Amino acid sequence: MIVAAVRESWPGEKCVAMTPQRAGMLVKAGFEVRVESGCGLAAGFSDEQYSRQGATVISDRHAVLGAAHILVQLHTAGTRHPQDSTDIAALKQGALVIGFADPYAGRAGIEALAGRGVTLLAMELLPRISRAQNMDALSAMASLAGYRAVLLAAGHLPKIFPMMVTAAGTITGARVLVIGAGVAGLQAIATARRLGAQVSGYDVRSAVKDQILSLGAKFIELPMPRADAQTAGGYAAEQSADEQARQRELMMSVVTDSDVVISTAAVPGRKSPILLTQPMVEAMAANSVIVDLAASRGGNCELTRPDEVVVHHGVTILGPTNLPATAAFHASQVYANTIGNLLAHLMKKGELVLTMDDQITRDLTVLKDGVLVNAVIKQAWGIGN
Ligand code: NAI
Repeated sequence: MIVAAVRESWPGEKCVAMTPQRAGMLVKAGFEVRVESGCGLAAGFSDEQYSRQGATVISDRHAVLGAAHILVQLHTAGTRHPQDSTDIAALKQGALVIGFADPYAGRAGIEALAGRGVTLLAMELLPRISRAQNMDALSAMASLAGYRAVLLAAGHLPKIFPMMVTAAGTITGARVLVIGAGVAGLQAIATARRLGAQVSGYDVRSAVKDQILSLGAKFIELPMPRADAQTAGGYAAEQSADEQARQRELMMSVVTDSDVVISTAAVPGRKSPILLTQPMVEAMAANSVIVDLAASRGGNCELTRPDEVVVHHGVTILGPTNLPATAAFHASQVYANTIGNLLAHLMKKGELVLTMDDQITRDLTVLKDGVLVNAVIKQAWGIGN
């Protein structure tokens, strides 16, 4: 069975879905691995490294796509990148495609893949359950993004993070507020703490309080009407407009007291909640920095512009949409690991088996042989069962 990876063509993407090391492991497991020449260069992996691990390096992208029984990608064909239509046309009929597929918003691309009879597994849809942890690509990427967000903020803030006693006087430490303490947020808290900042964290799910405290940060408690907004699945429940307005009101003083705000608030499948308004930004001290990790889903700050640096009333607002690409070597490594673990999960006695009795497979599968089978996505697209 041929597993293949090609160069990612999403603008600015530097990661690759298959590393030489992972290619070697797949070859040992009995797969034939083919990669497009140069696919790993931007992440620091040469063609020679792939060859040494037993992969076949091919310069003709379409030849790679046309032969692959399994295509692994970061952004699947169909997710709006420039080479989509030719890539999709070149795909082997009935191939298994695995990657981030933007399943809620990316209907047109997914329908184009359906036209090739593709089976599509969207990594965004992996259930966050214990036995799926080593396949959790979204969390792996979010951790790197949380780490990088803090470094980005530190680079823009004209202050240092730690308290420092110098011969010329004592420098007070920077105050960092992290809104949303999921995967990215907790990593941001840990990183800001490691850099010596005074860190506070806030989340609508009170379950994360102990995690925030265990990282040495302060947990911000707001007297919200609903003390805990957590769904049975462990995610944040969507807030009403009134709840969001109340939250903004209560957060005003905490935000304006911070040098850096890192916002990561997200509700699965929904637009990001607006937590930082223009008046809040205008009330912050000049030179403060906001890093809005939710930028690609509308942003948590109403002034965020994706991948732009906005300076408003002296406050710098950054909305990077692909921070893992700034750590492409490690991002590729962890991503390829999650895909490798998923393939191991799907292989039974040397055969690829997609059984819908298994929650992991069922949740991930958007298309089966070109047919839309995912109940959550059908509902999101307004299609009846
Ligand atoms: P997550 O689901 O683990 O965490 C999101 C957190 O936000 C949850 O703890 C949730 O309870 C909290 N939340 C929801 N509504 C809130 C509100 N109104 N106030 C406070 N907290 C609230 O998600 P994860 O994986 O940590 O990702 C966070 C965000 O970062 C997402 O928007 C994701 O798309 C984005 N992301 C951005 C990257 C980038 O390069 N910009 C890379 C990876 C992820």
